[in-house]
Amino acid sequence: MVVFEDVRKVYDDETVAVDGLNLTVEHGEFMVFIGPSGCGKTTTLQMINRLKEPTSGRILIDGKDTKDMRNVDLRRNMGYVIQEIALFPHMTVAQNICVVPDLLGWSKKQKETRTRELLELVSLDPDIYMDRFPRELSGGQQQRIGVLRALAVDPDVLLMDEPFGGLDPLTRDQLHEELKALQDKVQKTIIFVTHDMDEALKLADRVTLMRDGKLVQVDSPEEILRNPNDEFVADFIGSERRLMSPLDVLVREVMLEDLPTLRPDASAMDALRLMQEKNTDYIAITEDETFVGMLSAHRLQELRLEEDPDSRVGDADLVTVTVDSRQTMMEAVHRLAETEEHVLAVMNRRGKLVGAISRGWLPDILAKEMWPKEAAGYEMEES
Ligand SMILES: Nc1ncnc2c1ncn2[C@@H]1O[C@H](COP(=O)(O)OP(=O)(O)OP(=O)(O)O)[C@@H](O)[C@H]1O
Ligand SMILES: [Mg+2]
Repeated sequence: MVVFEDVRKVYDDETVAVDGLNLTVEHGEFMVFIGPSGCGKTTTLQMINRLKEPTSGRILIDGKDTKDMRNVDLRRNMGYVIQEIALFPHMTVAQNICVVPDLLGWSKKQKETRTRELLELVSLDPDIYMDRFPRELSGGQQQRIGVLRALAVDPDVLLMDEPFGGLDPLTRDQLHEELKALQDKVQKTIIFVTHDMDEALKLADRVTLMRDGKLVQVDSPEEILRNPNDEFVADFIGSERRLMSPLDVLVREVMLEDLPTLRPDASAMDALRLMQEKNTDYIAITEDETFVGMLSAHRLQELRLEEDPDSRVGDADLVTVTVDSRQTMMEAVHRLAETEEHVLAVMNRRGKLVGAISRGWLPDILAKEMWPKEAAGYEMEES
């Protein structure tokens, strides 16, 4: 159990980094600290293992004031993982994992057993990886070794400061799964710092939201989503949909609007030109504002322009599959799959054409839902 009592940290230049922190992290709990850049997350973490000393207040580990503990004892019981993992480049994976066991004078046999055990924990074959050097590993693998190094002497507490920040979303996802599985197996108290709300919601038993050195809200992810304490928290978590799969968003939130439109008696040549001009692969065919069908580039080809330049778009095999704008993307994707069409017309509840979902656009739509920050250029840094 880690307890903060009125902890305050003022740096020499009078920056107040942490301002009256009161918090209890339970044994075996996965606590995630989140908040804008500079809000005091790293400072808080580093006061736990005394890389920084509080200006006032106390931090207790299992009831003992960290001030009364020797740093060696304190840190032996505390793994620390940071984003710049900094494995020692001239040491093998095994040597890197065993830095602390080495200091503690473990035997060769003990170290090897522990190394094998740990590598297997994250599905890295010891016979393949033990003797590799860090440069012979991918970024994600290096990060795993960084985590294993922190776990080597089986500490009770694991401090992790944006450990997966530099990784691509897929590797990060995989490491999340591994960390969760690890937590289920070994039950550490984990204090994990991130900028990323999705990461926080996925991993945390509880989330601590910080701002300007103060706690704004400490709650379960569900509770934070349901009942944000104030405007700041609400802004920070964005819309609730972050908890959902990207396929749970409504069609009307992501559909393509302002569709290029032609009447059925327009020529196929007009359609081709319009597609090129608008850089799109489908056109809505409407007559007197009534939806007739969607002309896809694929179906336009079937009209064989060369053979019959006068063919009309109304003669094409138009796609008439529709989806309601209030349905979810999950339903739209099913509809695309089951009809094997490339485009769906989106109708509002009065049966009027309001947009389209095109197979070609799906990856963009889903990516934007899954990684909104990346899509928007990581806005969080500025706030
Ligand atoms: N050694 C230092 N001397 C003076 N001020 C510092 C020092 N270290 C950090 N600060 C300041 O303390 C505040 C909190 O910094 P901290 O590193 O804890 O933030 P953070 O929440 O981890 O930010 P980030 O998300 O960018 O990592 C910031 O205003 C920072 O500029
Ligand atoms: Mg930090």
